[in-house]
Amino acid sequence: MRRKFVAGNWKMNTNRATAIELAKTVAAGAGTVGARVAVCPPAVYLEAVAAVLAGSRVELGGQNAYLTNAGAFTGENSPAMLKDIGCGLVILGHSERRQFFGETDESVSKKAKIALENGLEPIVCVGETLQERQAGKTFEVLRTQILGSLQSIDAPNLSRVVIAYEPVWAIGTGVNATPDQAQEAHAFLRGLIAEKYGLSLSQNLVILYGGSVKADNAATLFGQPDVDGGLVGGAALDGKGFLQIVAAGA
Ligand code: 13P
Repeated sequence: MRRKFVAGNWKMNTNRATAIELAKTVAAGAGTVGARVAVCPPAVYLEAVAAVLAGSRVELGGQNAYLTNAGAFTGENSPAMLKDIGCGLVILGHSERRQFFGETDESVSKKAKIALENGLEPIVCVGETLQERQAGKTFEVLRTQILGSLQSIDAPNLSRVVIAYEPVWAIGTGVNATPDQAQEAHAFLRGLIAEKYGLSLSQNLVILYGGSVKADNAATLFGQPDVDGGLVGGAALDGKGFLQIVAAGA
């Protein structure tokens, strides 16, 4: 039985004070039961947010990490560093990183492997663009991305990976995938995982939906049989609204 999971991706938003405020609201409102919940603040605020979350059930994740643990890689953060300051999760291969920072399936797969070696659970993102969907290429794109992004991950490690299906056309646009579109893509991804890793692992794999998730559409999306929760961007910047989304996963 998969447990619902709602993670907030704050992207490059907040400042030190608002990050702490937001984390306080989420930690105080998350209570002790319900869907699994995490926040992913900008790297420079991770440590401040970790201090706020201490003692709460809200987990902490980074938004990216490099593919090696130390060395001359100016500007990068390593998985070991994220782990060191209290992260248990890291988002990898977000479409914004693929679009603006040259992330590829191969780099995502290397990053996922080293993240796992350092005790971080990767949230691996995949999703098609509008042009790809309109050209009827959604499944082809998802197949290439998911198999490529997991190419370094063996079956024992897959149980510690979370997938996020984030159609690029739904991110930050206010146009979410319909519940049927989300279900179709999630079922397709789960089917691919079953082919490669076996039925049992595929049935335990948590697949989040991301793209304009809001308090008023979360319950219907999360109610789909293969949608196990959400990776939330804009709506995660409002603590009370985010908690409503978390509650929709309970
Ligand atoms: P929005 O919820 O703002 O559409 O962003 C989704 C996302 O990219 C989460 O990673």
